[in-house]
Amino acid sequence: MRPADFLIEHADLIVTCAGSAPRCGDAQREISALEQAVVAAHQGRIVYVGSARALRDHVEVARGATRIDARGCTVLPGFVDPHTHVVFAGDRRPELRRRLAGATYGEIAAAGGGILTTVAATRAASEDDLVASARVRLDEMLACGTTTCEAKSGYGLTTESELRQLRAINRLGAEHPVDVVPTFLGAHDVPEEYQSRPDDYVALVIHEMIPQVADEALAEWCDVFCERSAFTPQESVAILTAASAAGLKPRIHTDELSASGGVDVAVKVGARSADHLVFVDEQGADALAAANVCAVLLPAAAFYLKLGRFAPARLLIDRGVPVALGSDVNPGGGLSPSMPFAMTLACFAMQMTLEEALVAATLNAAWSLDRADTVGSLEAGKLMDAVVITGDLAELIRVGSTQVRMVIKSGKAVFWAQ
Ligand code: NIG
Ligand code: FE
Repeated sequence: MRPADFLIEHADLIVTCAGSAPRCGDAQREISALEQAVVAAHQGRIVYVGSARALRDHVEVARGATRIDARGCTVLPGFVDPHTHVVFAGDRRPELRRRLAGATYGEIAAAGGGILTTVAATRAASEDDLVASARVRLDEMLACGTTTCEAKSGYGLTTESELRQLRAINRLGAEHPVDVVPTFLGAHDVPEEYQSRPDDYVALVIHEMIPQVADEALAEWCDVFCERSAFTPQESVAILTAASAAGLKPRIHTDELSASGGVDVAVKVGARSADHLVFVDEQGADALAAANVCAVLLPAAAFYLKLGRFAPARLLIDRGVPVALGSDVNPGGGLSPSMPFAMTLACFAMQMTLEEALVAATLNAAWSLDRADTVGSLEAGKLMDAVVITGDLAELIRVGSTQVRMVIKSGKAVFWAQ
């Protein structure tokens, strides 16, 4: 008999996403849903998921336990958002207006806007300012059902300001209900002062930034923006190889704005994920599948950047690549904090099924962050992280409705609809 101090009962359906991670191919549709079931937890961890009738054979529910009545609702694992740039300063709304008037992301960046605008503002911000502004964004993400997210540096681009951004990210992870997984992205762009000597900037990332980030244990992952306008495949390999040697696990932005060669980099350095992949082709999909690299797709970025196309999710799934979804919250094209919105675009712009999108937003996203042992599904032993939505699964893709009734993190209700 296991004790329990927390219970979700009477739900119409409990979607557990239980089972092995990552889910590839046909298995990406398996959401393992249970009717007439309950979830029980003790001290923030799930102890039982299964038939309501058999609960008493397995679990002793403490007197005074918290009981969530989920009548008329569907219960899902808390969403895991595996790609965000949630910590930054400044405002790029003028740039947004230029995009609406027809300028492309690349044109704006080439004219000195884009990432470098945010870099100037972030360099000028204190750690407290960064924490305060990101806290509001994490609150929004939580209200949409996100209980774990990744967060990248990459708007400092000096050793001191990259470390400051990472300290802010780590503080948010400790303070905020959303668990935050830190990623070092010093290779997000070449800063203005290094434009004429990009090799020196790559050397700074490798020889100064990575050792300090690793020494202070400020990040778990290292990412690189592999793109014509940012870092070449060769530079990306050098940076991610140095990061791995220092104990930072590799992931990569690739094929967002053009076919950038980053898939080969991901395979070569053993990256856990390759993100964006708007321009990936069949050969790339096969290479990712063979190396078991997770495709983290960010359809909200493609949508808000008006790229006119989306990542070929069907191709990736059909070739056996595990697919995850993220929000890509960022000051440029990352305007939505919502994983349900990313799932909606996955369904309507990338031909994924709702079940595939749900696995992509939970278990596969958790695996892409090396967290599938603790989050991403409702299973005994994992954290009691859940989203309770009114009605059935299809409510998730009604953009703008208030379908999220309650969000639970480590066995505590941390958001509920008024
Ligand atoms: O994932 N592509 C690089 N990084 C972000 C955009 C960052 C920005 O525009 O500030 C992305 O889309
Ligand atoms: Fe990104």
